[in-house]
Formats: sequence, C-alpha cells, structure tokens
Amino acid sequence: MVREDFAKLPRHVAIIMDGNGRWAKKHKLNVAMGHRQGVETLREVIRHTDDLKIEALTIYAFSTENWNRSKEEVAALMQLILDFFKSEIDELDEKNVRILILGEKDVFPQKQREVLIEAERRTADNTGLTLNICLNYGGRAELVRAAKQITEDVQAGRLSLDSINEQTISDRLYTAGQPDVDLMIRTSGEMRLSNFLLYQCAYAEFLFPRVLWPDFTVQDYDEALLAYGGRERRFGKRLS
Ligand code: FPP
Repeated sequence: MVREDFAKLPRHVAIIMDGNGRWAKKHKLNVAMGHRQGVETLREVIRHTDDLKIEALTIYAFSTENWNRSKEEVAALMQLILDFFKSEIDELDEKNVRILILGEKDVFPQKQREVLIEAERRTADNTGLTLNICLNYGGRAELVRAAKQITEDVQAGRLSLDSINEQTISDRLYTAGQPDVDLMIRTSGEMRLSNFLLYQCAYAEFLFPRVLWPDFTVQDYDEALLAYGGRERRFGKRLS
C-alpha cells in the first residue's frame, strides 16, 4: 500500500523484532540464521517505512540483557550489526535517512563502535526518515541517564528546580526532538514491553501480531498500520 491508501498514519513506529529464535528452531536452523533472516525483514520494513514517509522508526536490535545470551549468539549478532551497516549505509544515506543509535556504544567491540559512530556522523544532516536503532539499550537506563543530566544542569545552575517538567525529561532522552511513539509493534505474540522506550510509549497504541519476526511481511506491516488508523486515541480525555 502507498501513503495515500491510509486515512491516518503514525508519525513514530517502534518495533520489537521478536521470534527469531523460534523461527530458527521451527526450521531446524541455528539461532544465528534466525537473526540473519530477521535482518532481511528489517530491510523491507525500513524501506516501506521510508516509502510511506513516516517520520521515525525505532527498532530494538540489542538490549542490555542480550549480552547474557550464549557467546556464539552474541558473536553472531555482532557480526550482523557490522554486515547490516556495511551493506545498507549507502542506500540509507542516499534515501536521506538519519540514523541514530539509542544506547551506550562504549561497550561494543571497537569495529562495531566505529561503524556505529560513522553511520551516525554520515547521516547526521539527513532530513528524511529518522531510523533509531536501539543497541545496548534499556529504557530504565535511559531514564537514569536523563536524571543524571538534569542533576548536573541543576548543580551547575543551568536549570532551576521549578522549571523541571515533562519536556525537561523528553529533551534528555536519546529520542530528544522526536515525536512520542504512536504505534508499538511486537511480533511473535509476546505481550510485554521489555524495558523498551518506557517514557516515549506513554500514549502509544500496541499491536502484538502472532507472526514471528522473520515471517513478518510488508503486508503484515500494512495491516498493523491500518489497525492503528482504526484505533480511537483519547489521551485520557472523554471523546463523545
Ligand atoms: C528477538 O528474537 C530478537 C533479537 C534479540 C535481536 C534482533 C536483531 C536483529 C533482527 C538483527 C540485528 C539488528 C541489526 C540492526 C543488524 P529472539 O531471539 O528473542 O526470539 P525468540 O524469543 O523466538 O528466541
């Protein structure tokens, strides 16, 4: 479907790409192959999001908890991160996509860190889709980071206690300046937020398609976007 087919589209979509492991098991493959197939889905989803002229897409690629997976699985994900940026960066930059990494990059191996920093640097002035890639990301850690920045600003006299409001926090999140999440999609039927975008999802609509991430198609995505368009968002108000 194209943009004109939708009566209403979200400005910001967030996705938890869940089910790669189960997909691999179902196909009697190792988990790395599940993640590899998941990257194929991701490519299509980014392309479609850009075609639809949605402002922001945030994807959960690697959580702070994912370091606890087996050495082999973490290594496979690290390799996929390198492969993804090397193969996609030219096309994304050409399409005017701005890439932001949400999460602390310091803990990544040097090669990955360099690729991530370079992707952000190269696309920093792009004005099309904002693609937020959550890597070593945790929603609570993001809020702790914001709290520390606010405290520093207060201590340094740059900010007064009385002026602190919701915007003060939003401005210190990785997503500063972007709209709140309108639609959160988690594939594979799991219905949890798993420490993802806790502050930004305050008024998000949630959809939990049962399909495993590697099987998630552009048609499934369109269906989710249509379902979003059919939801009545009240933001706490009574609409009569
Ligand atoms: C959840 O599936 C998925 C992940 C933990 C990683 C998702 C990562 C990618 C799709 C590729 C890496 C991203 C980039 C940007 C290169 P799971 O393994 O928890 O699935 P399961 O619950 O079925 O085991």
